[in-house]
Amino acid sequence: MALFPIEQFEKIDTPFYYYDTQLLQHTIATIHQTAPKGSVVHYALKANSHPALLSIIAQAGLGADCVSGGEIRHAINAGITPDKIVYSGVGKTDKEIAMALQLGIDCFNVESSAELEVINDIAGQMQMVAPIAIRINPHIDAHTHHYITTGTSENKFGIDITQMHHVIEYAQTLRNITLRGLHFHIGSQITSVNPFIQLCNVINKLQKELLSKEITIDYINVGGGLGVNYENPDIDSIPDFQSYFDTFAQHIHLQPGQTLHFELGRSVVCQCGTLIARILYIKEGLNKRFAIIDAGMTDLMRPALYQASHKIENLSSNKPAQAYDVVGPICESSDSFGTGVWLNEARRGDFIAIRSAGAYGQSMASQYNSRELPGTFIG
Ligand code: LLP
Repeated sequence: MALFPIEQFEKIDTPFYYYDTQLLQHTIATIHQTAPKGSVVHYALKANSHPALLSIIAQAGLGADCVSGGEIRHAINAGITPDKIVYSGVGKTDKEIAMALQLGIDCFNVESSAELEVINDIAGQMQMVAPIAIRINPHIDAHTHHYITTGTSENKFGIDITQMHHVIEYAQTLRNITLRGLHFHIGSQITSVNPFIQLCNVINKLQKELLSKEITIDYINVGGGLGVNYENPDIDSIPDFQSYFDTFAQHIHLQPGQTLHFELGRSVVCQCGTLIARILYIKEGLNKRFAIIDAGMTDLMRPALYQASHKIENLSSNKPAQAYDVVGPICESSDSFGTGVWLNEARRGDFIAIRSAGAYGQSMASQYNSRELPGTFIG
C-alpha cells in the first residue's frame, strides 16, 4: 500500500483529491528521458487542469493540448506560452477561434471542412493566417472502452482518411490558412503497442502519398492514449513510456525537418492522484455488506460512466479483509465504485483511498444533487 499522510487528512473535509507532486515530477522526468530526441510532448489538459499540477507541468517545459477556450486560458495562466499550445475539438466556437488566433497559438487541429472554412473566414477578418493541422480519422480500433475509442469510422472525430486528399486540396485554396501538420488520436487507455504500430504504418503510407504530390508537412502529431495500470498503481506508478516512445521512434518514418508531437493526458497525471473519502455507514444487506462513503459519482465519474475499476484501499484499518460493495451517496444505482471489494475490516470514519484518480477524476467532477465539488490536497 502506498504511504499517505493520514494525520494531515484528519484536518480536511472529505472527499478530496490528494496529489503526490513528487510522483508527478518523476513521471515528467521519465517522459523527458524517454521521448524521442527533437519531439514535442503536449500535456492534454482535459485529464486534469488543477493549477498546482499545471504549474509543475509548465515549469517542466511540456506544451499543452487544449479543447476549449477555458483550457487555453488555464494553460496560459499556468505559464505555458501560446507557441506551445495546440487546440483540438470537433466544436470550436467562433469566439474560441478568434481568441486562439489573437493569442497566437501554435496550431489548430481541424476536425472538418466546415471548421476549416470558418477558421479561414475568422482569420481573414482579423487579417491573420491560421496555422492548422488536419486531424485524420485513420480507421484504427484501439480496443479500448467504446466511449473512449476515437479512431474508427463510427466516431465523430477527425476527417475520414478517405477524404483527406480532398480536404488538403481545399485547404490549399484558402488564403488565411497554412497547413502545418497532420494530427491523429486513436483512443485512450491503450495498453498494447499494436494500435500505435498500426498508426505509424498508416502515417507512413499517407506521407508517401503526400510526397508524391509534393505536399510538405512540418509536423506529425500522434495524439495521446498511453494507458496506465489501474489494478496495480504501486507496481506501475510510472507508465512504460520507454516502450511507448520507442514504438514510434522505430516505426514512424519522418521526413527531413519534420517534428513528432505527442498529446499525453492520462499517463502524465493518473497515478499521482487519489480520491480520499471517509466511510459514512456500514450497511448489512441481505447477501452483502455495503460501505457507504462520502464520495460519489459526482467526484469520480469513471466507474459510473465507463464501468471503470479503480483500486480501493482502507487506509485506517489493519484488520482482516472483508468483501464490501463500495458505494456513494448519490441517488443513482450506478453510483458504485466496486462490488465485492476486499477491504480491511471497515468502520464509520475510516479513510478510503480510490487510487489512480489523477486523470479524468477531478476534471470531470459535477455538482449533481447540489453537492459541493471535491477539495484538493497537494502533497
Ligand atoms: N488528444 C486528443 C485529441 C484527445 O481527445 C485526448 C483524450 C488526448 C489527446 C489525451 O489522451 P490520453 O493520453 O489521456 O489517453 N474521460 C475518459 C478519457 C477521455 C479521453 C478523451 N481524449 C476516461 O476517463 O477514461
